Amino acid sequence: MNNKGQARLRSRFQKKADKLVEQYVASIPFDWRLYRQDIAGSIAHAQMLTKQGIISENDAEVITSGLASIRDEIEQGKFEFKPELEDIHMNVENRLFKKIGDVAGKLHTARSRNDQVALDIRLFVKEAISETVSKLRNFQGVLLDVAEANKNIIMPGYTHLQRAQPVLLAHHLLAYFAMFQRDVERFQDCLKRTDVLPLGSGALAGVAYPIDREFLARKLGFSQVSGNSLDAVSDRDFVIEYEAAAAITMMHLSRLAEEIILWSSDEFDFVEIDEAYATSSSIMPQKKNPDVAELARGKTGRIYGNLMSLLTVMKGIPLAYNRDMQEDKEGLFDTVDTLLSSLEAFAGLVKTLKVNTARIREAATGSYILATDLADYLVNKGLPFRQAHSIVGKLVQYAIKKSKGFHEISLDEYHMCSPLFDKDVYAITVEASVAARDVAGGTAPKQVSAALARARKVISASGEK
Ligand code: ARG
Repeated sequence: MNNKGQARLRSRFQKKADKLVEQYVASIPFDWRLYRQDIAGSIAHAQMLTKQGIISENDAEVITSGLASIRDEIEQGKFEFKPELEDIHMNVENRLFKKIGDVAGKLHTARSRNDQVALDIRLFVKEAISETVSKLRNFQGVLLDVAEANKNIIMPGYTHLQRAQPVLLAHHLLAYFAMFQRDVERFQDCLKRTDVLPLGSGALAGVAYPIDREFLARKLGFSQVSGNSLDAVSDRDFVIEYEAAAAITMMHLSRLAEEIILWSSDEFDFVEIDEAYATSSSIMPQKKNPDVAELARGKTGRIYGNLMSLLTVMKGIPLAYNRDMQEDKEGLFDTVDTLLSSLEAFAGLVKTLKVNTARIREAATGSYILATDLADYLVNKGLPFRQAHSIVGKLVQYAIKKSKGFHEISLDEYHMCSPLFDKDVYAITVEASVAARDVAGGTAPKQVSAALARARKVISASGEK
């Protein structure tokens, strides 16, 4: 039993905490994950205290090496986390007392758990951002590889999930590249506001010691120190921003997941999922299920939930720190873990997709996907677009009735709809259709090649691939 450890926290009380309360208020079952950040913060703090003459050099050394050995114990699985000590901060401190005796009591000079936990989470989110960006970059690289390898494939583009106009598959994939590019930028932007040192804010008002916050910021890799102690200990908007950026990223991933699920169905049959990324059914032996994509789509719900949860936790709490804020962690950890694993699994899934070129071409050339091009053709012959639209509408109606594709309609039949049609109407193909969309951002091969090159530059400039 950690009578002493708990007594240090409860010096004004005569009674011990009720067992149930101990469990209820404890965050150690999840915040043990902050041990690295917590110990790094404490080591920097001890070094600062000695540099400022607040504790002796010898004390700082004893504290620092004690903390380092606690980190080793945790990493080797030898550390026993105790719920009665509430959280990672008190668990580490208690162990430090056991190891080095009363000197351990000097570490908490000029510090509170409030600025300590704010520091730990900021360090954690900073790392999470860098891992997230790196996973996103890797995934963008995969999208780009697949787009480049299938550069010339024309697929049906959809609106309302109805075949609409032909587009290059590479153009379609680059749309996702663009979404994930904005996601990367959102995380990078979030980093700017996360990269602020809260340590030195004390419990809420600052501390009454001559500390050096700039030194702490340098040691811990922050580019700024916080400018308001009340704000620094009670702000969690950087966590909310991370979770919001994660929610948007998962939304993008979920859309792609949905397409892969559709595309891998027998109905579409555009892609085949590699066996290593597919799952099977316990009853139907023929099944090859896209569970990775389905789970990425499904997990998006939980990521939204974590964002809503923290927004709601924060909305009614007065300044400064309140224990409600301990509720920031589980959702954050879950979001980081889920996002990183989703991005990783998805990169593998997309990388190993087999593209069914023949089937995609068949879908792109079937149906009346070139109807807009026929209307554009009539516009080029001098008709106003609305009139051209209506003539081609009639033509489609006729073609459906006769079960013919546009290429199977004779010139005489075309003439029944408009005298403006000529032999060159047969030159309208899916290739001609995409090539015609030669505007910035359009699907013409020339535009898409340039877009691929630009995307490749973005990836190589980021140093990831
Ligand atoms: N476990 C707490 C949290 O995560 C640490 C801060 C506790 N501060 C306090 N004043 N009780 O928020």
